[in-house]
Amino acid sequence: MAGSPVVLGIESSCDETGAGLVREGKLLGHAVSSSMDEHARFGGVVPEIAARAHVHAVTPVVHAALADAGLSMSDIGAVAVTTGPGLSGALQVGVAAAKGLAYALDVPLYGVHHLAGHVAADTLEHGPLPDPCMVLIVSGGHTSLLLVRDLARDPIVHLGDTLDDAAGECFDKVARVFGLPYPGGPAVDRAAREGDPGAVAFPRPLTGPRDDRYAFSFSGLKTAAARWAERHRAEGRPLPLADGAASLQEAVADVLTRKAVAACREHGVGTLVIVGGVAANSRVRSLAEQRCAAAGIELRVPPLRLCTDNGAMVAAVGDLLVRAGAEGAPLDVSVDPSAPLAYAALHPTAAGRVTALL
Ligand code: KG4
Ligand code: ZN
Repeated sequence: MAGSPVVLGIESSCDETGAGLVREGKLLGHAVSSSMDEHARFGGVVPEIAARAHVHAVTPVVHAALADAGLSMSDIGAVAVTTGPGLSGALQVGVAAAKGLAYALDVPLYGVHHLAGHVAADTLEHGPLPDPCMVLIVSGGHTSLLLVRDLARDPIVHLGDTLDDAAGECFDKVARVFGLPYPGGPAVDRAAREGDPGAVAFPRPLTGPRDDRYAFSFSGLKTAAARWAERHRAEGRPLPLADGAASLQEAVADVLTRKAVAACREHGVGTLVIVGGVAANSRVRSLAEQRCAAAGIELRVPPLRLCTDNGAMVAAVGDLLVRAGAEGAPLDVSVDPSAPLAYAALHPTAAGRVTALL
């Protein structure tokens, strides 16, 4: 094929095994297999179970993505893989598979930061990101407000991060106390449909005049919601679940969108991109739409299927790196389970060195 190569992306950082194929910003095909059901009875992801599930799923998922795209192995011109952050054993399965494929096909390998993947997911639906843009990443493990310029080349500026729990973690943990199934976010979203978002006055952490404008904190909100549920139980009263879920969701959506819109205003940035699993939340989406429209800010949110973990988002970063002329990763590239987000490319080696990025 002439021009830019087809990039295969592999994602295995948590409980989803994903493979996607991207070329010049276009999604050609993808497939995802989830081990979520196997973790449900434990109330959270069990790392060893996740890693084993990746071993089973990775080859079939790559084949399914190729079939979805109508392509074969020989069409792959580069391989990108999540090298971090995530569960160590889970990451290693994807990295081993990606190395094997890159070596056998004799094509370059790119290590990708998982969160950059979430950011790049939006480009598959809405085209290249404007420079600069404001990105709110909200997932099960991360909550960050980022100023992004050229995702493939420039350092990513963190305006604020969560000081404790991530927004998704808050949903997951409170859902457990509410007696809702894992994963908690979608369960809270569903339960909230019948509820009154103003029923319970849950706190809006770090929104006072003297608080850090862009930092987040969700552990106090989590505790407040858990105490509210426990109080009902202790007093033998039935839990008004829908009202609790709607009020929790409202508090999270309010804090997230308030800070993101303020960051856009204060930095003169005209586009807000909301990505990560929590971007799938219906209230986060609707409140962001409302507030961005009022502030004259363009809002971009990937479609639901690209919000949660998938291989297409990793391929999207790989495609950007290839087109930016970035150097591939050495074959001794390792995983970095707690990598901070500094650049989209993440090439840690076994020796703990981070190789030159471009
Ligand atoms: O990005 P993601 O798939 O995985 C991580 O990288 O963490 O995000 C998973 C998180 C979980 O905490 C899940 O509960 C949350 O995203 N989530 C939601 C919704 N769908 C997924 N949270 C709120 N509302 C949803 N509809
Ligand atoms: Zn994720």
